[in-house]
Amino acid sequence: MDKVFRDYRESKAKAAVKEHYRKMRANQTVSYVEKMKKKYLTYDKPLMLWDALKNLDDLIDVSDPDLDLPNVQHLIQSAEAIRRDKRADWMQLVGLIHDLGKIMFLWGSDEDGTSQKEQWGMVGDVFVVGCTLPNSCVYPEFNSLNPDMSDSRYNSLTGKYKKGCGLKNLELAWGHDEYLFQVLEHHSTNRLPEEAMAMIRYHSFYPWHSGNSYTELLQREDEKYLNWIRDFNKYDLYTKSNQTYDLDSLKNYYLPIAEKYLGKGPIYW
Ligand SMILES: [Fe+2]
Ligand SMILES: [Fe+2]
Repeated sequence: MDKVFRDYRESKAKAAVKEHYRKMRANQTVSYVEKMKKKYLTYDKPLMLWDALKNLDDLIDVSDPDLDLPNVQHLIQSAEAIRRDKRADWMQLVGLIHDLGKIMFLWGSDEDGTSQKEQWGMVGDVFVVGCTLPNSCVYPEFNSLNPDMSDSRYNSLTGKYKKGCGLKNLELAWGHDEYLFQVLEHHSTNRLPEEAMAMIRYHSFYPWHSGNSYTELLQREDEKYLNWIRDFNKYDLYTKSNQTYDLDSLKNYYLPIAEKYLGKGPIYW
């Protein structure tokens, strides 16, 4: 039988996955997200790309019902599948780095949900903060735990947004996608194409790219992003397996691609 991915039913997913989503839903509010942006988007911690990747050998994503390997293995599995399909070199690089924002745990804390122990501010499917939480969220029964859902500024379909304001103007739950996107936006030698930056920024936004929610907030142009992200998602999700790799044995292949699109210097986190 084919492997089923993203099965969150009680009997299948671990209790830790559900507990992760309970905390995430209860804590990710407009004010929390704004606080985290101020705290983490400082761009003052230099780290070479390869060293950043190595650090993900120490992190297992607690929200992932499909994989119990260090996150760096998931990155390599994604990149290698994109490479096998002979897709563009920049997309192979996106496979390798798309979850790199999870190195937030290096300077994170339990209180913020950005540590190895508490990951609800770092990983998992994200949703829009500042408007009604849709039923397409995993474990929608936790939506009512979010304090913003009893705040009249935020608990309507459009909430704090203008109708049709577009994807780019939505504020998402804080996590590794937005962190890496902002770090690379501020990286002076970043030459990644727009498609790559969108894949990095929105790959965890499941209620949108897989749940078809938030139609009242989107605009026509967002269709383009949806196609890119769905294309990337095949590799993010369906490549998860028990196969492991030695990161350093892949350096000769991937580092030149990384240097082509990101330069040779450190990235400032
Ligand atoms: Fe991710
Ligand atoms: Fe991923």
